Amino acid sequence: MNRPLQLSAIFFLFIGIVVSCTKVDIAAVNNTMNAVVDPFAATRAAFGTNIDFTNLSNYANQTKPNYINNDNTGTDTIKDNKATLGRILFYDKNLSVNNTVACASCHKQAFAFSDTSLVSDGVFGGVTARHAMRLINARFANEAKFFWNERAASLEIQTTMPIQDHAEMGFSGVNGRGTIDTLLNKLSKINYYKEIFKNIYGDTLVTQNRLQESLAQFIRSIQSFDSKYDSGRARVNNEGAAFPNFTATENAGKSLYLTPPVFDGSGNRIAGGAGCNGCHRAPEFDIDPNSKNNGIVSIIGSTTIETNDTRAPSLRDLVKTDGTPNSRMMHTGQFTTFAGVLNHYNNIPNIAANNNLDGKLRADGVGNKLRLTPTETAQLTAFIQTLAGTNVYVDKKWSNPFLNQ
Ligand code: HEC
Ligand code: HEC
Repeated sequence: MNRPLQLSAIFFLFIGIVVSCTKVDIAAVNNTMNAVVDPFAATRAAFGTNIDFTNLSNYANQTKPNYINNDNTGTDTIKDNKATLGRILFYDKNLSVNNTVACASCHKQAFAFSDTSLVSDGVFGGVTARHAMRLINARFANEAKFFWNERAASLEIQTTMPIQDHAEMGFSGVNGRGTIDTLLNKLSKINYYKEIFKNIYGDTLVTQNRLQESLAQFIRSIQSFDSKYDSGRARVNNEGAAFPNFTATENAGKSLYLTPPVFDGSGNRIAGGAGCNGCHRAPEFDIDPNSKNNGIVSIIGSTTIETNDTRAPSLRDLVKTDGTPNSRMMHTGQFTTFAGVLNHYNNIPNIAANNNLDGKLRADGVGNKLRLTPTETAQLTAFIQTLAGTNVYVDKKWSNPFLNQ
């Protein structure tokens, strides 16, 4: 070997050693640093692989059908990281005074985020005054006020009301219980929230505002558009057209649902359809913001009446694909079957005491009577069943992320 070649061989050997040593060194340093400052160590301990802030689930860019237009998002646009925080909060029992109740205790994914009980159990034996509502497609509605009686001015405001409700999660400030500030302070001491708030907001401050926006984003992300109805709707130009994938019975039910009824002066239906669409509007099946009371005026466990309940959740996923109802129906939970619901609309009661009854359900001085025939009842029942999706009940991104809760 000549001298220059020898020299360069030695030189490259030297460089090689330096490079490989440096490599080893950097890797070693990295490993020690990771072990010391994994920014998500507590998050990993609580959620394992269910939550991964370096590879978030898709909440922000889900596809929705082009015929869906109603949307109450406002300025609180869904972000993957905040909706993920919302998911954790939704399933976290720390949100209740005695660590026994989470939002998900009353809003169960397997039942379209409703509750199978008539009233739902809160802290220390407390129960809710009304039946729990499904949380399906809450985003895709023009009515931006929430709860049966619309007492929450927005979804954001709604989300921290159950936390402060004495019977539900208990941070009411009543009878020596803490307030929402007590909760904010409690959460700010939990290590996984420290990590997550730091990652999302750049600091570890837990504020009511941050809880509201993330919980609302999570709830708005819960969407269901994989029903038989959607397959059919995607193949026609308008709601009224016969859906090619529907049976004759389902198409007849759809037509009854969409067509307004004609009543005589005594409130008896003499022609037309059932008119459900006048208030529960396809294709979102959200409640018309102008809807008034529908004649359901009882209060659970009381003989007095309330007439200010004018909201219903979307009728999508009222029942499962096999027709089984996800839960009881109406704010009173008084119906366990869809047939019971139709019987109500067949003969609207309590009209004298109900000055908020919607004009579409009353003739002069009497409640309207749809008088649906057994065939029509079967057709409407078949149609309601086409509104059932499947993915929303099982998609992991809306499920409980805790390893031990
Ligand atoms: C103890 C049971 C219970 C708990 C806990 C609970 N909810 Fe509810 N939720 C209900 C009931 C009951 C209603 C209907 C109440 C009413 O209208 O008066 C409701 C209604 C709602 C609605 C309104 C839906 C609509 O379409 O108007 C939303 C949204 C909601 N809950 C979200 C939450 C969130 C978020 C949490 C946790 C911070 C939570 N809930 C905790 C029982 C509960
Ligand atoms: C005038 C408006 C209006 C019309 C028309 C109407 N509804 Fe309703 N519906 C409501 C309101 C308001 C509620 C909420 C009632 C309550 O306080 O519980 C409701 C509740 C319901 C519920 C219970 C939802 C739940 O989550 O528990 C079902 C099911 C329902 N309606 C189906 C129908 C069907 C089927 C028709 C047609 C035969 C129909 N509605 C016609 C206004 C209307």
